[in-house]
Amino acid sequence: MLIIFGASGDLTARKLVPALFNLYKGKHLPDSFVVLGASRSNMTDEKFREKVVQESEFLQEEIGKEDAAFIKNFADKLYYQDLGDKYDGDYSTLTKRIEQLNRENGCDENYIFYLSTPPSLYEAIAKNLSEAGLTKEENGWKRIIVEKPFGYSLASAKELNDGLHKYFHESQVYRIDHYLGKETVQNLLVTRFSNSIFEPTWNRRYIHHVEITNAETVGVEKRGGYYDKSGALRDMFQSHLLQILSLIVMEPPINASAEEIRDEKVKALKSLRLMTDPDVLATHTMKGQYVASTIKGKKVKGYREEEGVDPDSKTETFAAVKFFVDNWRWKDVPFYVRTAKYMPTKVTEVVIHFKSPAHEVFKSQDAYRKDNKLIIRIQPDEGILIKFGVKVPGLGFNVEQANLDFYYSDLDSAQVMDAYERLLLDAMQGDATLYARADEVEAAWKFVDPILEYWSNEDVPTYGYAAGTWGPRNSDEMFDGHFGWRNPGKLLTDETGFCIL
Ligand code: BG6
Repeated sequence: MLIIFGASGDLTARKLVPALFNLYKGKHLPDSFVVLGASRSNMTDEKFREKVVQESEFLQEEIGKEDAAFIKNFADKLYYQDLGDKYDGDYSTLTKRIEQLNRENGCDENYIFYLSTPPSLYEAIAKNLSEAGLTKEENGWKRIIVEKPFGYSLASAKELNDGLHKYFHESQVYRIDHYLGKETVQNLLVTRFSNSIFEPTWNRRYIHHVEITNAETVGVEKRGGYYDKSGALRDMFQSHLLQILSLIVMEPPINASAEEIRDEKVKALKSLRLMTDPDVLATHTMKGQYVASTIKGKKVKGYREEEGVDPDSKTETFAAVKFFVDNWRWKDVPFYVRTAKYMPTKVTEVVIHFKSPAHEVFKSQDAYRKDNKLIIRIQPDEGILIKFGVKVPGLGFNVEQANLDFYYSDLDSAQVMDAYERLLLDAMQGDATLYARADEVEAAWKFVDPILEYWSNEDVPTYGYAAGTWGPRNSDEMFDGHFGWRNPGKLLTDETGFCIL
């Protein structure tokens, strides 16, 4: 039984129920599976089903493809329980409902509690569940999934962890990071550890620098209130991007078990060199904010004009960080990571820039531009691209770059599960590999905290960038030498330029 706290909220309709629907359609759910939505709205089971299934805008397309009986059978697996006016009130009615549904459906007392509520309620909900006897694993397993943001700083993340650990063992806690549910993020592990051609070069001897870009084409939309207190560094970098980074930086695990993989990820995150010196932070970090602009003839608001945003806000919608990893493998290799709202294209990619050959036999202009690159596309146009030098036909030995590319869409079995489908299924099966462990989250915050503290200083500039461009124009200055950000296009093989308005 999946018990969703905060079930009347956006996430349930937008992500959870569509993911469950696909799992149901794919016959991944047992017959005994049921969902109990719980929140403070007064709704009947029927009303809840209509809201998140039959009348949900997020399922319309799917519903159109299936017959009514199939939809009804799925919707009938969903139930709803009103929690009254607060989440930390009395859980006796909820407990009775859970026990009744368990008896009627044969759930064997295997429960997942999904907390889609503000993090400030996590401990109170965990406490109530524990007092109601719903966390004991004597009969059936009990797991708790919590959503991001997991903390606002290292101190608050620790507080959340301590709060949950009073009532649940760490092995019962599943901290969701939907980027880990993405097929292409998981493939980082396979690319590295199942190919003998990459791993030998995956180190300071061959890699010049590593670049990660995460760009979105939208602004903060309706989330101005939340975002203004969060900013890009907390919203994307601390969680999703440091998760991707840990998979690039980590040492090979001894096997594919959740604990071995996560042990290596924690070690990787702990090796990030903490930056506390203001002079280092000034040159290694950059924050920016989008300003009003016209994109494809349409006027778009600047961040400060967005609903819920302070008109004098200095919150960053662009964050870029350059840093080093203090271990044998990565010594002196710079990592450049950026994330932003309102860029020219939606894209997430990792670029491994290899060093120039040790001895240049074929002199060529802009040789650095022609160095080998491995580009791993997380989204969209998912795939991998290797850039390598080839001889230009004709006289002499002129070198140009050519592409070797692979696309997920070319695979026969390209039926890629949505991140939430995969993650929900993993939690049901007790596989926490793709969930963040307490020490991982804390190690990530430890790195991010000093940057946030530095950025809270009034003197730190917040650079404006026109919505729809690749961020502050001076952001290339963070790079050493001739390098700068690779500004990717929509397609993996697009050649890059500064701006593709
Ligand atoms: C969320 C952030 O975690 O990830 C959002 O809170 C962001 O601000 C979203 O838009 C991006 O996810 P995706 O899967 O669309 O890249």
